[in-house]
Parts: sequence; C-alpha cells; structure tokens
Amino acid sequence: MTGFTPDAPVLHEIKNHSEELTKAEAGVAAFAAKRNNRWYPKFHIASNGGWINDPNGLCFYKGRWHVFYQLHPYGTQWGPMHWGHVSSTDMVNWKREPIMFAPSLEEEKDGVFSGSAVIGDDGKLRFYYTGHRWANGKDNTGGDWQVQMLAEPDNDELTSATKRGMIIDCPTDKVNHHYRDPKVWKTGDKWYMTFGVSSAEKRGQMWLFSSDDMVKWTYEQVLFEHPDPDVFMLECPDFFPIKDVEGNEKWVIGFSAMGAKASGFMNRNVSNAGYMIGTWTPGEAFQPETEFRLWDCGHNYYAPQSFNDGERQIVYGWMSPFVEPIPMQDDGWCGNLTLPREITLGADGDLHTAPVAEMDGLRENTTDFGAISLGVNGEQTIADDAEAVEIEMTIDL
Ligand code: FRU
Repeated sequence: MTGFTPDAPVLHEIKNHSEELTKAEAGVAAFAAKRNNRWYPKFHIASNGGWINDPNGLCFYKGRWHVFYQLHPYGTQWGPMHWGHVSSTDMVNWKREPIMFAPSLEEEKDGVFSGSAVIGDDGKLRFYYTGHRWANGKDNTGGDWQVQMLAEPDNDELTSATKRGMIIDCPTDKVNHHYRDPKVWKTGDKWYMTFGVSSAEKRGQMWLFSSDDMVKWTYEQVLFEHPDPDVFMLECPDFFPIKDVEGNEKWVIGFSAMGAKASGFMNRNVSNAGYMIGTWTPGEAFQPETEFRLWDCGHNYYAPQSFNDGERQIVYGWMSPFVEPIPMQDDGWCGNLTLPREITLGADGDLHTAPVAEMDGLRENTTDFGAISLGVNGEQTIADDAEAVEIEMTIDL
C-alpha cells in the first residue's frame, strides 16, 4: 500500500494554538474552583478539573517523569480531546504543567487523540498522536476520520510543543473508520510505528510502518490481526520486548479490544484491555504464544500505555468510569490514572504487574495484621480513620 504516507508532514492551521491552550486552562480552572473533593484522589493522577481518559506520551526525559493524558477541559464527560500534563522527579509528587495540546489544525479539528512519546538518536523527544475528525464533519453518527501526527517539544521541560503535522494519512477505502493511537520504537537501525486499525472487513488489526528519520514513514504490513472476528478495533496498542528469567527475549503485544463477547470470566467489560506474549522479528508479523489475557481483573482498567525508563517497563492505565451513572461527574472532575506498575515476565512464563518501588514512598505508617481468616460473609475492619490507605494482601482462596 502506498500513497498515504506524505514525504513531509502536512498541516493546515485553523486556530491559534496558544489561544486555544489559554482557553482550555480557563476551562479546567473554572471546574477546579468549584470542585467537590469528596472522591478526589489523594495520590493518583487526575486533572484539576474536567474529564480525563487515556494516559499519553509517557516518558522519563532529562531527569523527570512525564505523564500526559486525554483531557476534556470544558466538561466532566468525554469531549473534544486535549492533552493534559504533569511531571515529577520521583513519581510520587507531581507538578501540574501547562496543557500541552489543544485542537488547532484541520487534521485534528475534533480532537488531539491518544499517542506516545519516544526519544530519538539525537536525544530529542517526539510525540506521535492521532488527529481526529468526525467523518460527517459534525458528530459520531458517521464514524471517525483519523490520521497520525508528529509534534516536537520546544524545551527540555516539555512545557510546550510545535506541531509538525500529519505524517500518515488514512486510506479510507481500506479502513472502517477506526485508525488511531500510535506507538513508536526502534529495533536494529529502523524506527517502527504501530497503531490500531479497523480493517475494511471490520477486523481488529495493528498495522506496522517503518522509518529512517522518524518523519517519513513507509507501510510495511499487518503486524497482528485479532483472531476473534467479533473484535473490530484494537485501541491503544502497545508493543515491547521483555526478557524472561533466563534472559530470552519475548515480545508483548497489548491492546484494548473492542467488540469481544463475554465468555466465562473473560471479556466482561465494555472493551477489554489485555496482552499476548510471543515473538517478533522485523519483516514478519507478531507470533503469539499465549491467548489474550487481561492486564487487570477489575472493571475499570482501560487504555494502558507502557514505556521503558532504561531499566524497567512501566505501565499506567486509565481507571475508566465506564459504568453509568458516573459517580463524580457532578463534582467538577472525572477520571484518574492507576499507580505506575512495573511489568515483569515471571518464571511461570506470564506477565506480572506490581506498583513500582517508588510507591513505597507514599507510606507514612504501616501495620502488619498477620494472617486473617474470614469465613463466608465474614468481615474485618482494616482501617476506619485514615485519610488514605493502601491495603496489601496475599489471598489464599
Ligand atoms: C481509548 C480511546 C482511544 C482514543 C482516545 C480518545 O479510550 O478511545 O482509542 O485515542 O480514547 O479520547
């Protein structure tokens, strides 16, 4: 397939970006001023006000951790997407940073959708994200029209960025609208990008592109097609190598699958975030060696994104308030992220995720309750007067 990867980024400015950012800051501030804090998180990342969903652009860059997130600054429900931003030196204490992206280009008129960050060989960071438009020009009744975009930060603190524009267009005859959430990495001498696609046959796929300069991309092949024909889209795909306990390299493919039907205890959410472990060689498709497994068995874990900090693979997920009515929507804020978790491949051949060691820094007092036995419907109060508690349990069922 050719003809949809331009030689140079394409952009059409329709609004002044810095004016849009100023308006968005005012939108968040207006919610923050009357926020009801009854359920506002003590240490999970949330916006000061407004709605948030997916974690975006996760990275450790020039001594700081950066977490961006999908943000609607003008409502406590999903709406035209911006990127909010917080940064930290320890992953425990976070500083609010200016909003990073607001829709200002024709190519992203209806939303700056999810994406990732990657550090180039020149030590400079790039942001890849999806530019979203409604196909009918007004609402979601006609489906999406989406393209992949590039932006570059203006400074080492990542407090603002310059949009370079569209780097991958959508071949609309080969795609059933959904076409989003780029993830970029380097293997050997080449840069690779994958993102989620709903094929013309409505199959959930991840397409693979390659590049020498991180700007001009070439379509390579379908990296992965979900075997379940009910699955029509793979949102927020992730793809990374990981070593097993013997030091062998495996590849992990992660995605949030839309359309799967519930089966037993599996796929009980509206959409389901999970992974498969397998192998990958450039020039080939991903070869799964496991079935699809959920990242988290809770009902609210969605759109996770992972990144490598040089030593660890760390993942944040969105604690999605998928169940209506959404409890905090009248409180001026909605949605927060999970704690960061480190992903490891255990001796049992499966992935494990546990809060990163830095999270111990949140603890002020600890109490060891020893072994507790609970009968059917038994109860035990662990803490009834704390402002925030963390409960660590090993459960013998
Ligand atoms: C997942 C998702 C992404 C998209 C973003 C839009 O929750 O639908 O696929 O980029 O949210 O906010």
